Amino acid sequence: MEKSSLITLALSKGRIFEDTVPLLQAAGIEVPESPENSRKLILPTSDPNLRLLVVRASDVPTYVQYGAADIGIAGKDILYEHTKEHPGGLYQPIDLDIAKCRLAVAVRQDFDYEAAVKQGARLRVATKYVNVTREHFARKGVYVDIIKLYGSMELAPLVGLADAIVDIVSTGGTLRANGLVPVEDVAPISSRLIVNQASLKTRAKYLQPLIDAFAAASQGK
Ligand code: PRP
Repeated sequence: MEKSSLITLALSKGRIFEDTVPLLQAAGIEVPESPENSRKLILPTSDPNLRLLVVRASDVPTYVQYGAADIGIAGKDILYEHTKEHPGGLYQPIDLDIAKCRLAVAVRQDFDYEAAVKQGARLRVATKYVNVTREHFARKGVYVDIIKLYGSMELAPLVGLADAIVDIVSTGGTLRANGLVPVEDVAPISSRLIVNQASLKTRAKYLQPLIDAFAAASQGK
């Protein structure tokens, strides 16, 4: 096969992968293997012109920005942080309306968040989403010390590392299991299609039909 006809789509396993498969199916593309039953990081599809790269959610924009993948699917949470640090370079044409969840502030059940905020206390907030968290509290006029973590944020309030966390809440199960409660929404989250700008110019013949199929499938959901 001519190399230039091969389109590479980067996405992460879990919710985004699960919600992307039906969109691909709506475009007539089957994905025979999934990251749940395969350790492969490059997955073929029934379309010989399309392959999938399975990467960490926060790495998806990087693969697309550098052109190692032509397109990708990434949550607005990840995109917001990425574009703050690497402005420009990514075309984000479609909100796919998948992997919907929200970014929220959560605290221990016994922590009086309202009172802490009213008293003008300086809050310690643990999060992976440093930029969005800083802007959220700046808008509220609340002083915060932000502690950057890379995962398992729910632990931080339980062991005295932070007063609050800002994290993704989907079912709320993870917060409940750890005795935390959501106290404030920061932003609604869904995933967007992202496209490498050079690929869009040089490989439009293969890429544009796929972008159109994603647009149609996400509208028809
Ligand atoms: C997110 C988040 C929570 C969990 C919330 O993690 O960090 O741990 O999902 O979901 P719930 O409200 O349905 O319990 P994710 O599974 O995306 O993995 P991550 O830790 O790699 O971010």
